[in-house]
Amino acid sequence: MAEYKVKDLSLSSKGKKRIEWAGTRMGVLAHLKKEFEKTKPFKGIRISASLHVTTETANLMIALKMGGAEVYLAPSNPLSTQDDVAASLVKDYGISVFAVKGESNESYYENIKEVSLKKPHIILDDGGDLTNYVHSEGLYNDILGGTEETTTGVIRLRAMEKDGVLKFPVIAVNDSHTKYLFDNRYGTGQSTLDGILRATNILVAGKTVVVAGYGWCGKGVVMRARGLGARVIVTEIDPIKALEAYMDGHTVMKMEEAAPLGDIFITVTGNRDVITLRHIKLMKDGAILANSGHFDVEIDVKGLYREAEEREEIRPSLERIKIYGKNVYLVAQGRLCNLGAAEGHPSEVMDMSFANQALSVKFLLENRENLENRVYTIPEEIDREIASLKLKTLGVKIDELTEEQKKYLSSYKEGT
Ligand code: NAI
Repeated sequence: MAEYKVKDLSLSSKGKKRIEWAGTRMGVLAHLKKEFEKTKPFKGIRISASLHVTTETANLMIALKMGGAEVYLAPSNPLSTQDDVAASLVKDYGISVFAVKGESNESYYENIKEVSLKKPHIILDDGGDLTNYVHSEGLYNDILGGTEETTTGVIRLRAMEKDGVLKFPVIAVNDSHTKYLFDNRYGTGQSTLDGILRATNILVAGKTVVVAGYGWCGKGVVMRARGLGARVIVTEIDPIKALEAYMDGHTVMKMEEAAPLGDIFITVTGNRDVITLRHIKLMKDGAILANSGHFDVEIDVKGLYREAEEREEIRPSLERIKIYGKNVYLVAQGRLCNLGAAEGHPSEVMDMSFANQALSVKFLLENRENLENRVYTIPEEIDREIASLKLKTLGVKIDELTEEQKKYLSSYKEGT
């Protein structure tokens, strides 16, 4: 019987239907499930994961279990757990889950501890909390390798590698083309707007939306905000990204200049102190603040709460905060708004991200002796194979290089 700490096991039937629905949109993972069921590549392997407990993660966990793994799941954010999914994983699929939506930070770290103590051979992480924990507690002796899902986690891992403190090889799933080009851009783009709309139900058309960060996530958020009719202002610290935003047709300025102009502010930088009290002082009455970067440090939420004259939850995932004599509205406590106020990315993009996760586990197990304690990206062939499989599930066929074309592309002599 699976071990668990979930909100309510009786939510399982709702969770199961939603997991199955997500599964129908995840063709690549469905293909891998069939293959894993036959070949059992994870037989005898213990896998501990810290991932957002969503319907898509459920399908990844099921795929790993079908491949023979013993799987333990903790969340990767206290607000992102879907309680019905957690219940169904335990009851219907026999997978151990330790996650409750809205739990305290202490309880969140208890869950990370719980899965760390299972002597995992492989860990799957999203943001680096599990990786940090096993390193700081010396719980890495059985670990053959790990994976990391997001930009912020990869930045942390590269810092560990640089300092020579990483204790096992890690695959930076985030850096696969079939991950960041789709998940970060189209996934975060759509789901961030989805979170803000579910929390506020506002009309976006005609509003001024200020997006901080024009990386892969920021580009997606801007694209979707524009599609809904917003005027977009971008803030950046990187001159190349700022220029790109400018030539893509957006207004680019400093946050200080944008603060009095914006109706909605969205941070997606992976950095801290992007919107501070200094900026909030300059904002209009009624401004809406949301973050989609990994940690809740992009907007100064602590400062907001500390200086608030009044504070109340007025809708699910939306707080009214009276500060400096006006009201500002904060979505999902400044945590990832797409996961806190909505359901995270659509299944179709998570299909590719999680195919990368599953194939990274297989790659780590097959190549352990050739890997050092460093951060790796998934081999190009696997990345391309995932893209080919995705195209196949979408019914899209593409041309193939002829022998003549291959020769032409690899030669420096053939000019005409
Ligand atoms: P990225 O590195 O491609 O882009 C981040 C951008 O923010 C860069 O262009 C950087 O120059 C800019 N930036 C940094 N500090 C800034 C500041 N103070 N003001 C304005 N811009 C600043 O990273 P990516 O992939 O777009 O990820 C961004 C964040 O979103 C990370 O924390 C990542 O982990 C997270 N993420 C969240 C997801 C979600 O589901 N909400 C999904 C994927 C990633």
